[in-house]
Amino acid sequence: MTKVLFVCLGNICRSPLAEALFRKHVEERGLSDKYEVDSCGTAAYHIGAEPDSRSLANARKNGLDYSHSGRQVIDRDFEEFDYIIPMDASNEAHLRYGDPTGQAHIELMRNYDPGFEGTDVPDPYYGGEQGFQNVFEILDRSTANLLDTLESK
Ligand code: 4NP
Repeated sequence: MTKVLFVCLGNICRSPLAEALFRKHVEERGLSDKYEVDSCGTAAYHIGAEPDSRSLANARKNGLDYSHSGRQVIDRDFEEFDYIIPMDASNEAHLRYGDPTGQAHIELMRNYDPGFEGTDVPDPYYGGEQGFQNVFEILDRSTANLLDTLESK
């Protein structure tokens, strides 16, 4: 079993969507018994919250439905997950600083976005609809590419 954890700031926009899209790719390829997937936030603002309604509405327009209850990263996550995938450089720094094992595999989501040179899945929280669609497209291809990479190991 390979365990993958997606991480953003609030755990209501980017990382629950990354979790849902990665799970969709896993299911479409018949790999559900090989992967366990979850998401969390580095911040505590939205513990217990549903995904952002604008993220959900956009995902439904793209044919994807999902649910998640917001949670904050905990020490156990660093031992339990084989891959911890932050959405941006700030989340990455927070995770590296907070890793009590010092050995977790922490790697930016956009390392798996072919041809992209930067670091961040942009935070759509304060933007408009186009931002949510942009994030959906980035995460759809990046999670597919992450799965390709894990399967080729
Ligand atoms: P996320 O987006 O990190 O993709 O879930 C955000 C959600 C909430 C906040 C910021 C970003 N916030 O400041 O409450």
